[in-house]
Amino acid sequence: MAAIENSRGNWGSKFGFILAAAGSAIGLGNIWRFPYVAGENGGAAFVFIYILFVVLIGLPVMIAELSIGRKTEKNPVGAFKTLFPPSLWKLVGGLGVLTGIGILSFYGVIAGYTFGYFIKIITGGLSNVVTASQSEEIFKSFTADPFMSIGLLFFFVWLTVMVVMGGVSSGIERWSKILMPVLFVLLILLAVRSVTLEGSGAGLSFYLKPDFSKISFTTFARALGQALFSLSLGMGTMITYGSYIAKKDNLVTSAAFVAFFDTLIAILAGLVMFPALFAMGMDPAGGAGLVFVVLPSIFAKIPGGMIFGAGIFLLLSVAALTSTISLLEVPVAYFVDEHKWSRRKAVISMGIITFIIGIPSALSFGANSFLSTIIAENFGFLDMMNAVFGNYSLSIGAFFIAIFAGYKWGVKAVADELEKEGNVFFYKKAWAFLIRFICPLAIFFILSYIAWTGNYF
Ligand code: TRP
Repeated sequence: MAAIENSRGNWGSKFGFILAAAGSAIGLGNIWRFPYVAGENGGAAFVFIYILFVVLIGLPVMIAELSIGRKTEKNPVGAFKTLFPPSLWKLVGGLGVLTGIGILSFYGVIAGYTFGYFIKIITGGLSNVVTASQSEEIFKSFTADPFMSIGLLFFFVWLTVMVVMGGVSSGIERWSKILMPVLFVLLILLAVRSVTLEGSGAGLSFYLKPDFSKISFTTFARALGQALFSLSLGMGTMITYGSYIAKKDNLVTSAAFVAFFDTLIAILAGLVMFPALFAMGMDPAGGAGLVFVVLPSIFAKIPGGMIFGAGIFLLLSVAALTSTISLLEVPVAYFVDEHKWSRRKAVISMGIITFIIGIPSALSFGANSFLSTIIAENFGFLDMMNAVFGNYSLSIGAFFIAIFAGYKWGVKAVADELEKEGNVFFYKKAWAFLIRFICPLAIFFILSYIAWTGNYF
């Protein structure tokens, strides 16, 4: 009851929650990040491990996060504090708050580029793209402009701030409902065009025919990071979102639904990218600019393709927005709940901080040569932030959330929460096994290996 009466607001309905959680999960992680990470890590074999991790690690951790959130009706820090007041567990929530800002700072840059590309297309800026190398030149010169990059980052963070300021159901929910299905349909159409391009076969087999000799331990680390990133796990987003769900809803089916659609969209994005990429003779390990180079070269091969392209980049911006609001919501809920800030003050100050931290990322696609090559020739500041916050921070967070749900708070307490109001906890035993053994052990081995070899990036 309290959830409905308190001032934090609630999702309008179960469907509203699912759409909002799916809106958080589905975003640039699926369409920008998944294809280039898969491309850098051997294609199909990576995809296989990725799907395995979604099921064996992502889904159990998502159920854990949602149940912690719904039980406590709090932000991540407050949630741990409520369950075990004098303990250090709240630091896991604290890491989540920092990670939210860290991810948003670079995510906002890419999201800004997607919106920038929408504007560029409708103003004719891509109309003479014919080949992939022309497309690449355009992306390079676009991102090399510091004012453009910083301006777009500012714009996107501002947009996020505006939506989050509106509160939960009026802001987040309304956006998620309408536009995701449209994006889905456009991606299917693009995938059809991509696989029918001449020479696309090599891309299809790269993407779908696993070559397990290409797997290394790093592949596992990247697949883990990507699974957590794409499902919005490991930093308490789903704790925060779970705090707005009604007790009568079945969390397990909701989580499965979100994980399924998120994975479907990622797979579909790969189906758009790889056939086209091979058809145009590009390198699948081309890095973080991949989607901005490949998509326009597909549009060039569709009659009226640029109109189509404008639609895709606009919807990508919307998909990104439903994700950025979930990233900003975590630190905001923290300051509102724990420090009694007004929502307005929390949203504006977090927005300003994120924007400032995002500036070096915005300058790392060629605008500033130091920032663009800070780790290696093709590995700039944004890539570094992406690895630190988008892989390792989430992996560490997910590790502790699994330990917390499996041992500290305990599987019985999670089950009690999930079985509220007569709900059935499907696969309870399997979940308990995964959260107690598979999740922590797998994450522990992966992180130890990375630390041991020092192969962080
Ligand atoms: N999952 C989103 C995407 O794929 C990004 C995202 C939103 C996220 N909230 C998150 C990633 C929380 C990690 C944690 O685009």
